[in-house]
Amino acid sequence: MTKTGTTTTEPVAFPQDRTCPYHPPAAYDPLREERPLSRVTLYDGRDVWVVTGHTTARALLADSRLSSDRNRAAFPMINKRFAAVRDGRRLVLLGVDDPEHHTQRRMLVPSFTLKRATAMRPRIQETVDRLLTTMEAAGPGAELVSAFALPLPSMVICSLLGVPYDDHDFFEEQSRRLLRGPSADDSRDARDKLDGYLGELIDRKRAEPGDGLLDELIQEQLHSGGLDREQLISMATLLLVAGHETTANMISLGTFTLLRHPEQLAELRAAPELMSAAVEELLRFLSIADGLVRVATEDIEIGGTVIRADEGVLFSTSVINRDATAFPAPDALDWHRSSRHHVAFGFGIHQCLGQNLARAELEIALSTLFERFPGLRLAAPADQIPFKPGDTIQGMLELPVTW
Ligand code: HEM
Repeated sequence: MTKTGTTTTEPVAFPQDRTCPYHPPAAYDPLREERPLSRVTLYDGRDVWVVTGHTTARALLADSRLSSDRNRAAFPMINKRFAAVRDGRRLVLLGVDDPEHHTQRRMLVPSFTLKRATAMRPRIQETVDRLLTTMEAAGPGAELVSAFALPLPSMVICSLLGVPYDDHDFFEEQSRRLLRGPSADDSRDARDKLDGYLGELIDRKRAEPGDGLLDELIQEQLHSGGLDREQLISMATLLLVAGHETTANMISLGTFTLLRHPEQLAELRAAPELMSAAVEELLRFLSIADGLVRVATEDIEIGGTVIRADEGVLFSTSVINRDATAFPAPDALDWHRSSRHHVAFGFGIHQCLGQNLARAELEIALSTLFERFPGLRLAAPADQIPFKPGDTIQGMLELPVTW
C-alpha cells in the first residue's frame, strides 16, 4: 500500500527545542520510531513531510524533483522569521536550483577546496593562539563563546571574503537578529541592515579593489554580468552568516559535549591524532543544522510513500544521523566508528560549500584549546548553561568555563 499525505497519527510539531543540547529533542522520539518518513506540523499549522531515515535522506537530497527555491509559493517556512525575509528578492546558492545554482557554485568552489583550507591552517592556528593567549591572560575563567568560539570563525571568514573584522560587532549582531531575533520584523530589519552594509562594502571595493573573495567576485562576475549587484550582495550575506554562525556553534557545543564526556576527552588528550575523527563524529552527534527544507515540484514515490507536488519536505539531520542502520549504537559519542557518511553538512548539490574550512577550524580550535588548558572545566552547573532554541542553528548561548 502507498502512504500519502494523510496519516492517522497526530503529527509532531516541528521544530522543537532540544532537551539536552547535544541530543535530538525528546519530542522527536516518535519520529525516530516511524523512520524513514513522518508528517510534522509547522508553526503556521501546515503539515509537511520530515525525512528521518539515512538512506531515504540521501536519496531525496540528491533528487532534483525537490526544490530549494525559497521564492516558490509552496516552499515551507519553519518559523515566522524565515517567512518575513522571503520577500521575492533574488536569491543565490541555497535559495536556487540547478542550473542557476551550479553556475553560482562554480564561481566559489576554487576558494573552498581542501587544498585552500589546508593552506589556511597556519593562519587559523595563529588566530587560535592569539585568542587563547588573550583569554588566558584575562583569566582564570572566561565566557568561551565571546572569547573564542565566535571570534575565530568570524576572523577567518572576514579574511577570506575581504570584510573588515573591525565591523564584527555590527554583523554578528545582525546575524543573531536574523537567525533568532525577537520578532519577524526584527529579522527582516537585520537582513536589510546586513544587505545595506555589504552593498556599501561592495561599492567601496569597486572603487578601491582589495584582495578578498568579494573583490575577486567583483572583478570576475560583476563586471562580466555573471552576477548582478543584488545577487552579489545576497551571496556575500550568505557566506558571511554561514561562515561564522555555524562553526562558532560547533566550537561551543563541541567543547560543552567533550567536557560532559570525560572518558572520551581523556582519550583525545592522550591521543591528539584522533582529533580529525573526533570532529567528524561530533558533527554527526551534534547535527547543529537540524532542519533542511525543500518543496516537491512533482509527485515523488519513495519506498511505498508518495510525496505530492507542492508538499513540503524537511530533513531532520539530528534524527537522520542517529539512524542505527547507518550508525550502530547511534546515541554514543564514539570516534572509533566511521561517521563520514553523516549528513551534518547536508548531501547532494547543496552540500556545505564551507565544509573543508569548517573541519580545519574545528580541528585546530578544539585540539589547541584542550592542549593549552588541561584543567578546562565548566564554571556553572551543566543544566544551567543556556543553549539555542530549536528553530535556529544549535549551539550554546553562553559557555562559562574556568581552568
Ligand atoms: C560546522 C560548520 C558548518 C555546518 C554544520 C554547516 C552546515 C551546512 C548544511 C547542512 C548545508 C546544506 C543546507 C541545505 O542543504 O539545505 C550547508 C550549506 C552551505 N554552507 Fe555550510 N555549514 C558549516 C560551515 C560553513 C562555512 C564555514 C561556510 C563558509 C562560507 C559555509 C557555507 C555554506 C554555503 C554557502 C552553503 C550553501 C551551498 C549551496 O547551496 O550550494 N558553511 N552548510
